[in-house]
Amino acid sequence: PPNNFQMEGSSGLGRANCRAKGGSAGFKVAILGAAGGIGQPLTMLMKMNPLVSVLHLYDVVNTPGVTADISHMDTGAVVRGFLGQQQLEEALTGMDLVIIPAGVPRKPGMTRDDLFNINAGIVKTLCEGISKCCPKAIVNLISNPVNSTVPIAAEVFKKAGTFDPKRLLGVTMLDVVRANTFVAEVLGLDPREVDVPVVGGHAGVTILPLLSQVTPPCSFTQKEIDYLTDRIQNGGTEVVEAKAGTGSATLSMAYAAVKFADACLRGLRGDASVVECAFVASHVTELPFFASKVKLGRFGVEEVYPLGPLNEFERIGLEKAKKELAASIQKGVSFVRK
Ligand code: NAI
Repeated sequence: PPNNFQMEGSSGLGRANCRAKGGSAGFKVAILGAAGGIGQPLTMLMKMNPLVSVLHLYDVVNTPGVTADISHMDTGAVVRGFLGQQQLEEALTGMDLVIIPAGVPRKPGMTRDDLFNINAGIVKTLCEGISKCCPKAIVNLISNPVNSTVPIAAEVFKKAGTFDPKRLLGVTMLDVVRANTFVAEVLGLDPREVDVPVVGGHAGVTILPLLSQVTPPCSFTQKEIDYLTDRIQNGGTEVVEAKAGTGSATLSMAYAAVKFADACLRGLRGDASVVECAFVASHVTELPFFASKVKLGRFGVEEVYPLGPLNEFERIGLEKAKKELAASIQKGVSFVRK
């Protein structure tokens, strides 16, 4: 590809008055890490989202191919590709929502924290670009370890004077998606009828499913609670091991990312009662960041909901989660402040 690659996926022959308007009322969305395992299916699903009018695909490799491919889909969003750091600013300018699945994934035997050394720097660079080019955009951060990358992003934004806690969201939706699936399986229900709040963070014991607050109301035996809690907390590792060295969750993650991004866009549009779990700046506990249910609105996070009544098992889990989370948050903050 040419050095200064930018592709709109068209021959330039389109008649102006016949141009697909791409839902001119729609939103502009950038995906950073668009050519990756998550990035590619995420890109495809976002191209299918009627709320999106412009889709910018950014990566340090392979965006020309992904852009050419995706741009042939006959949906409304106009797709443009951007390759390499010299095109980051162009990719970000004017965006309403930036989704970040850039970075390395886990291999068997690794924790999410093992990714810190590589992904921290990637997230820092990308967030510096956001501060400069689209400081008002909503940011959906997927890159692991989310418990540290969200604090990193916040510190970068603070340094640049652009930090708005309402607009920075760590994506924990996959934990909710998994919880809904596994709980539905145990209850013999359709997963679409089930809603499990998952709070805390996005790694091991920080993933805290609140099984006492499942909708529809139900009760579990202690054996079911132990099984479900363990499976939800280790769902990512289940996939990493099954993929045996070739990556971590990508397809279910892309699905979860789109479910979450769509909620953010519906909030931006002004829909009422858009509520999802996310890892955000929070006063729900003594920690500066915590995942819980949040209401999404025109400016991002409109309200962070408290945890609600916890049972004894969940209270013990919460204490464990907070201990690990505090360290992960501090690690992220120190990375930028050092
Ligand atoms: P992947 O390795 O398949 O794709 C990552 C992409 O990021 C690659 O295309 C790579 O070129 C790109 N990239 C690397 N450096 C970049 C930079 N400086 N700027 C822009 N793009 C860059 O990895 P995969 O499987 O897509 O996972 C991505 C991240 O998402 C990992 O950190 C993984 O741990 C995380 N993840 C998060 C989940 C969550 O629930 N929040 C769930 C699953 C994965």
